[in-house]
Amino acid sequence: MILITTAGKVGSQTARLLAKQGETVRVLIRDPEKASALARVGVEVAEGDLEVPATIDGAMQGVSSVLLVSPAIPAQELNVVDSTVRAGVEHVVKITSKASADSPIARRRGQTEIENGLIASGLGYTLLRNNVYMQNFLMLAPAIAKTSSFGASTGDGRVGMIDTRDVAAIAAKITASPAPHSGKTYWLTGPERLSYPDAAAILSNVLGRPITFHPLTFEEQKQAMINVGVPEAIAEMNAQALSLVAEGDSDWITDDVPSLLGRPARGFEQFATDNATAFS
Ligand SMILES: NC(=O)c1ccc[n+]([C@@H]2O[C@H](COP(=O)([O-])OP(=O)(O)OC[C@H]3O[C@@H](n4cnc5c(N)ncnc54)[C@H](OP(=O)(O)O)[C@@H]3O)[C@@H](O)[C@H]2O)c1
Repeated sequence: MILITTAGKVGSQTARLLAKQGETVRVLIRDPEKASALARVGVEVAEGDLEVPATIDGAMQGVSSVLLVSPAIPAQELNVVDSTVRAGVEHVVKITSKASADSPIARRRGQTEIENGLIASGLGYTLLRNNVYMQNFLMLAPAIAKTSSFGASTGDGRVGMIDTRDVAAIAAKITASPAPHSGKTYWLTGPERLSYPDAAAILSNVLGRPITFHPLTFEEQKQAMINVGVPEAIAEMNAQALSLVAEGDSDWITDDVPSLLGRPARGFEQFATDNATAFS
């Protein structure tokens, strides 16, 4: 049995892939009604909250490997690590980002704290250190559909952005057969380094109408996220990360996706084509 700790973007896509491959897979979720589509494709659903260790222990029954993915609040993810140790789980695949102990972004410092706790636990582990997700553009999709434009504080900085479907494909592969990947860190990216103005040009081609990009300041970026319902503390961290893009922070790609999957990583044009209705 494979346990996935949340059913967000990567968690739900990984659960679907594992169920399709015939693996037994369970997701932990606060509101089981949100997982009804996953239940229909054979994913087991366990009601629980990462704040409540007893519910994590309940979901851990019979589990051999875990996909640790969540908003990465250290106390919550370390609750999962403690629970996996109690349950004798063999392997944890952790979704992480460009973590470092001295990052200006609190979430990245938190990721380091979680990674260190996982490594110190003695469990088998694999870190998936992912570049920015293409699917973040889906948050902008309603505005793009309405105004044919979008803004960000990224300037002309380039990003090796990755499609979360590729992250999920790798998470599914490793959780199902972890041994060759134990103790390894993979830096997952898409195939190209694109600026947000480049993304606007690709969206224009795919959608058949001009989509324009306008630069935002850090404060404008933070406020734009608050306006669409992102809590202020998270909006602050997201705006910090996007502003660091302008300084080249995300301007990196690797071959880890093609090496692991034996096929090219999905590019932004593919992402835009597959999600065209959301932007239209
Ligand atoms: N976005 C990016 O560009 C990017 C890039 C690299 C790495 N990452 C990493 O990806 C991770 C986030 O993954 P994601 O984007 O796939 O997640 P996501 O789509 O934002 O989903 C988060 C999920 O966590 C659930 N959740 C929140 N608090 C919970 C709790 N206390 N107990 C149980 N479930 C809870 C939410 O469920 P509800 O529906 O109940 O709220 C939601 O389903 C982070 O580690 C982040 O650093 C993100």
